[in-house]
Amino acid sequence: MKRTKITDLFNPELIGKEVCVMGWVRTRRGNKHVQFIALNDGSTVKNVQIVFDMAQFTDDQLKPITTGSSIKVDGVLVESMGKGQSVEVQAKSLEIFGTADPESYPLQKKGHTLEFLREKAHLRPRTNTFGAILRVRSALAFAIHKFFQERGFFYLNTPLITGSDCEGAGAMFQVTTLDLNNLPKCEDGKVDYSADFFGKPTALTVSGQLEGELGATALGAIYTFGPTFRAENSNTPRHLSEFWMIEPEVAFFDIADNMDLAEDFIKYCIAYALDHCKDDIDFLAEHYDPELVERLKFVLDNEFVRLTYTEGVKILEESGHKFEFPVYWGADLQSEHERFLVEEHFKKPVILTDYPKEIKAFYMKLNEDGKTVRAMDVLFPKIGEIIGGSEREENYDKLSKRIEELDIPMKDMWWYLDTRRFGTVPHAGFGLGFERLVLFVTGMTNIRDVIPFPRTPNNAEF
Ligand code: 4AD
Ligand code: MG
Repeated sequence: MKRTKITDLFNPELIGKEVCVMGWVRTRRGNKHVQFIALNDGSTVKNVQIVFDMAQFTDDQLKPITTGSSIKVDGVLVESMGKGQSVEVQAKSLEIFGTADPESYPLQKKGHTLEFLREKAHLRPRTNTFGAILRVRSALAFAIHKFFQERGFFYLNTPLITGSDCEGAGAMFQVTTLDLNNLPKCEDGKVDYSADFFGKPTALTVSGQLEGELGATALGAIYTFGPTFRAENSNTPRHLSEFWMIEPEVAFFDIADNMDLAEDFIKYCIAYALDHCKDDIDFLAEHYDPELVERLKFVLDNEFVRLTYTEGVKILEESGHKFEFPVYWGADLQSEHERFLVEEHFKKPVILTDYPKEIKAFYMKLNEDGKTVRAMDVLFPKIGEIIGGSEREENYDKLSKRIEELDIPMKDMWWYLDTRRFGTVPHAGFGLGFERLVLFVTGMTNIRDVIPFPRTPNNAEF
């Protein structure tokens, strides 16, 4: 008989019909007359109850079935009398695929801490919590493609191995095939990269933006969606060493267009998750974050506040609030500052624009004041910065000057500068940290819990 996924069982038309279900056992309980198994197959957060009339099964048949075992059951779907479930399967036949030794299977009882589960990241997708998070993550990934595809953006794949440093932060993972114990040296004692795989130093990308701009200034509007890597030693609940980023880039866009796109985009994704992941979001709200649904709807129902960095800093300075890091014009804002503006002052998502050029990347368009650039950061409750973007400097001379000022090796940037030499256009784009979005939508508080296998300093297990 063909298998029915548990998510498809909650369908009145199937009542009274024979079904075949397969999955992993969450619990087994009962007595010598009747036994109940709660079965989950990952298709939904809901378990289905399987009822075994022990007149038709032997104790020996059911005894090996402990938490974590995998089974197949053929039976009849009936309306359930018990509370908490609408249907159940009355078992007719049983097959055990695999048992799970209760002495060593780590996910015995419910209520493990998230910290404990991080150490069991190979099995945690089998818990209700991680099942829910991973399904929401998958739905959001689909929503992202849908949003851009429906608006005529083209999906552009940018390289993961690169010779350039987009953000200029210098926190890149080097990629090399040289023997680290026996490095070839030049006459001046430095490593001879001409002997390396690519004949020059390379690293994992921190952003696909620079290549994204090449795409946008040809196809008009593109988006990337891929992994990015940052070797910053930031051990925070919002930083990963390997994270996924979505980077739209649009020709003929200015910063106002860019802000509109960012706001529409993020609202679309949140609305999609609310529409398509109700059971999972309700589960997460119930167990972790009672205000989750309210917070998500609040973001949908409110316009993001837009103000300049200068205005934002003024509000922070005048707030009288004691911050751990000092705030003054020119300072890079910390998460505590961002969250103060969002959570305490405006009580709404905020888009902060026109940052001092010194604290932003080289490619941002310089304002007429000569001091600030057309940057935009979208700041969210509980998260802080969720999106970073800007209008780009399209003027060849100004851009070259900035590259020189910052000592970026010009010879590595020739291809980027060519977009400004040949048919340059105003353009803008931004990057959304995918895990920060998943964090917001699931109400989780640690970014390590919204990616299947997190990579952070000193952690690359699994
Ligand atoms: O602000 P960032 O560094 O901007 C860029 O990389 C630009 N090139 C984007 C663009 O304009 N195309 O990063 C963008 C977003 C941040 O707002 C944040 O959400 C996320 O990426 N992010 C991280 N997420 C998890 N772990 C980290 N270490 C992150 N660093 C940035
Ligand atoms: Mg940023």
